[in-house]
Amino acid sequence: MGASRQSFPLTPKQKSMANVRSLVRRSYRLSMLPRDWLIRQALAWVEAPEARRFASVLELLERRDAREQTGAIAAIEQERRRLASNTDLLADGSLGEAGIYDAKMSIADACKASKPASPALLMHLLVREFAPKQLVELGTNLGISSAYEATALRANGFGALATFESSPYRLRVAKQVHTGLDLNNISYFQGLFSETLAVALKDLPPVDFAFIDGHHQYQPTLDYCELMLRHAAPELIVVFDDIRWSDGMKRAWRVLKKDARFQFVVDLHGVGICMRVPRTVARRYVFPALHHTFS
Ligand SMILES: C[S@@+](CC[C@H](N)C(=O)[O-])C[C@H]1O[C@@H](n2cnc3c(N)ncnc32)[C@H](O)[C@@H]1O
Repeated sequence: MGASRQSFPLTPKQKSMANVRSLVRRSYRLSMLPRDWLIRQALAWVEAPEARRFASVLELLERRDAREQTGAIAAIEQERRRLASNTDLLADGSLGEAGIYDAKMSIADACKASKPASPALLMHLLVREFAPKQLVELGTNLGISSAYEATALRANGFGALATFESSPYRLRVAKQVHTGLDLNNISYFQGLFSETLAVALKDLPPVDFAFIDGHHQYQPTLDYCELMLRHAAPELIVVFDDIRWSDGMKRAWRVLKKDARFQFVVDLHGVGICMRVPRTVARRYVFPALHHTFS
């Protein structure tokens, strides 16, 4: 979400506890390397084309594939750098009163909520590989992840993106970013997801790819997923961001990965991916969490 977590000065005792926790976390992640390797092999080996396609996306991501780093992607990253150094206020009052998440915030501050290059590239590679016709994104912010997605749709030669955002100020910057990148396959919906999504979905073609990157709470996450499923094409991929961001999100992810309507579940630790396929499959594949994809 747009709001950053508030930080308070730590006492020396809290600092040393934080250091110990960080050391334990890093050792745990390192010990997961061989396990990650096995899960990646399993993805590539199982008798289902979708799993192999996910494996090939992860392989490209790992190599930060040079072809993907040039041209369009480099231009998006240049836009990100421009936004990250822009200290102008995000909300100048011209579009109405700034909401609590926009007030006194600079464009550079808002840019911090954008997906970093690696998860954004994951979105781009997934869209290239699975070639959706109708992509829906919840949480536009300044338009960085949507630029990655729309660039992939453009490279595919078809497909459209509908992106949703409550803040008119963030949306205004996003539209400028997309115009600068010559992206014309994006439609924008401004307002709370709870007020815009259900209405918009009725008029959009069936959704075959969704990226849920805002309002990271238990019930809203499940509700948005339900809405997507109700308006989905037979094949649907839903990417959930920040699945371990809070207890609510951890709970939501536990529910989602058990949902029998999704036959493939890939867990990249921070990001969870659920896929429904348009045929009967002999079994569901719920792959254990991969710890190293974005490190
Ligand atoms: C993490 S940011 C999205 C980042 C963006 N996907 C990117 O990577 O460039 C989440 C965005 O969702 C918006 N948002 C959060 N909750 C919302 C809600 N209930 N309705 C509409 N927008 C919401 C916030 O204003 C924020 O801009």
